[in-house]
Amino acid sequence: MSEKKYNVGLVGATGVVGETFLNLLNNSDIQINELRPFASERSAGKKVPFYNSEIQVLKEGCFEGLDFVFFSSGDDISKEWAPQAVKSGAYAIDNSAAFRMSPEHQLIVPEVNGELIKGMSHPQVIANPNCSTIQLMLPLNALKPFGVEKITVASYQAVSGAGTNGIEELKKQTASNNGDTPEAFTKPIAYNCIPHIGGFNDDHFTSEEMKIMNESKKILSLPNLLASAFTVRIPSFNSHAEVAWVTLKDSPERSDLIAAFKSQEGLKTFEDPRAYDTPLECGGQHDVSVSRIHKDIANENTWILWVVGDNLLKGAALNGFQIAQKLIAYDKV
Ligand SMILES: NC(=O)c1ccc[n+]([C@@H]2O[C@H](COP(=O)([O-])OP(=O)(O)OC[C@H]3O[C@@H](n4cnc5c(N)ncnc54)[C@H](OP(=O)(O)O)[C@@H]3O)[C@@H](O)[C@H]2O)c1
Repeated sequence: MSEKKYNVGLVGATGVVGETFLNLLNNSDIQINELRPFASERSAGKKVPFYNSEIQVLKEGCFEGLDFVFFSSGDDISKEWAPQAVKSGAYAIDNSAAFRMSPEHQLIVPEVNGELIKGMSHPQVIANPNCSTIQLMLPLNALKPFGVEKITVASYQAVSGAGTNGIEELKKQTASNNGDTPEAFTKPIAYNCIPHIGGFNDDHFTSEEMKIMNESKKILSLPNLLASAFTVRIPSFNSHAEVAWVTLKDSPERSDLIAAFKSQEGLKTFEDPRAYDTPLECGGQHDVSVSRIHKDIANENTWILWVVGDNLLKGAALNGFQIAQKLIAYDKV
């Protein structure tokens, strides 16, 4: 790692993704000269930890002199502020959905298509994919040599995916042992599960489902991939789980799949078909876990996988942080 010290911005520093970024930045081998944290007016006067001290959060976007800025404040702030950061000469690494499907912007999972960063000739917005999409990309990338033709995905998503309000709502409803009035979710989340993440479109898919289907094709460079997703919020605090049915063009043996998964960076593979991780066990883990790897009996050439990952780490802050590491490795900052 280089000896250079970097000036870093963090928009959304007081949120759950922001907090995860702060942990990574405070404990990383990237040397930081200046950290500039931003949040809303609600956080006026708040401080965040930076090395052995604390710094006050700012509410106005001022990005002069920064090398890169992480955005985790939602689509509207990213749309307004990320171009300003780029204009000031910084790479904007954006966790929102604002730029993900734009043809002018790259959508990066470093272990999958991180090489695209090598070709960047100037500061720009780099999009961080949706949390459920990111974790799915690691096993699917490993299976690409066998010809991934179709994926069907069912998700079981933790409340931290809905930010601070989601976590607080599950805590409150669990403690009071009733549903209370739902605010962060459409229905009570404690002792329940909700088949509704984001808004519905005219085809009756939710926005979360559309993100998984569309972003997967872009990241894997498989525009003709047949993809279908159904997403469910469950009352777990952190880490998303997904079942993926993956139909391949080729007919590999199970041992071929295991070997491919084991050689995929960022993936923890359970070879034993009876062993698996759960969301609780994956909290805090950097690697995505793939287990229950078995052939479908109802569909030719289809494999079933259980994929679990920490949505705040690999699904958000860690992936963004790894993009910054690539920018440094390729001498872009
Ligand atoms: N949670 C996940 O698993 C996950 C995964 C992938 C992507 N993301 C994306 O990451 C972003 C943040 O998510 P989160 O889960 O961290 O949400 P969160 O806990 O609700 O945090 C939101 C952050 O945005 C800040 N913010 C809100 N309005 C603002 C404004 N007008 N100006 C400046 N800052 C403002 C908040 O500041 P205050 O504290 O001052 O309100 C807070 O720091 C979202 O775009 C989300 O879609 C989240």
